[in-house]
Amino acid sequence: MFVDVWNTLALSCWREAVPEVPMHIAITMDGNGRWAQKRGKPRLHGHRAGAETAKTIVLAAPDMGVSHLTLFAFSTENWKRPNVEVHGIFRLLEEFFTRELDTLASHGIQVGVIGDRRGLPGFVQSVIVRSEEITRSGRKMLVNIALNYGGRWDIVHAVQAIAADVQAGRIGPRDITEEAVESRLSTAGQPDPDLLIRTGGEQRISNFLLWQSAYSEMYVTPVLWPDFTPEHLKAALLEFQSRHRRFGALGPMGEGGDNC
Ligand code: FPP
Repeated sequence: MFVDVWNTLALSCWREAVPEVPMHIAITMDGNGRWAQKRGKPRLHGHRAGAETAKTIVLAAPDMGVSHLTLFAFSTENWKRPNVEVHGIFRLLEEFFTRELDTLASHGIQVGVIGDRRGLPGFVQSVIVRSEEITRSGRKMLVNIALNYGGRWDIVHAVQAIAADVQAGRIGPRDITEEAVESRLSTAGQPDPDLLIRTGGEQRISNFLLWQSAYSEMYVTPVLWPDFTPEHLKAALLEFQSRHRRFGALGPMGEGGDNC
């Protein structure tokens, strides 16, 4: 039934019929290593397959009503992995952006990178700048690639910017509000994620979007990232629609006196 509706409704109609499509989805793409291991291949083989999945999901998401998609590609903790894997992921990213930029641009996808880019190798920084420039006018969906990203880094970075503004006399202590922090995060101006998806079955946040995910719904699937398809994404959206988000308030019948 759902698939029929999905295939026959135009996007505007879908949005009207099912208003709870999340605007911003953030995904922890976990399970590449296990996927490769199951096939007796090196871990990078899994990351390569994961990059293909990323492309498929990025191209499918706008037609599901997603306006912002954030993909966790490399965390501030991933430096602890063997050099060959770290370097391999960066080369994959370079290859991905170089090869897919025109496709992304022609689909109206805007690419942005969140994270501490100064800590990235020069060739990755260059490809990031080129990707952001070439896709700048994309209006269908913004895809944030989280690279050398950590939620704690994001908050510390925002606090440093606030401290600099206070020190320079541009703002005072009373100006330090939630909005002041938000406007200095790497996702400034974007909606908070409505839905956090984690593939690979682990039930952890892993330092992803700590501030921004205060009220995000979580969806964990055992599916390994290279096996994740647009059908799996639709299943996550359906599950999201069945949840009742209260943002700390009570439901219409006075139910739900918890803090969520
Ligand atoms: C986690 O799986 C995945 C990563 C640390 C890297 C993700 C990178 C990609 C998918 C490639 C490039 C991405 C884009 C956007 C083009 P894991 O290695 O921790 O898997 P495991 O838990 O099975 O070991």
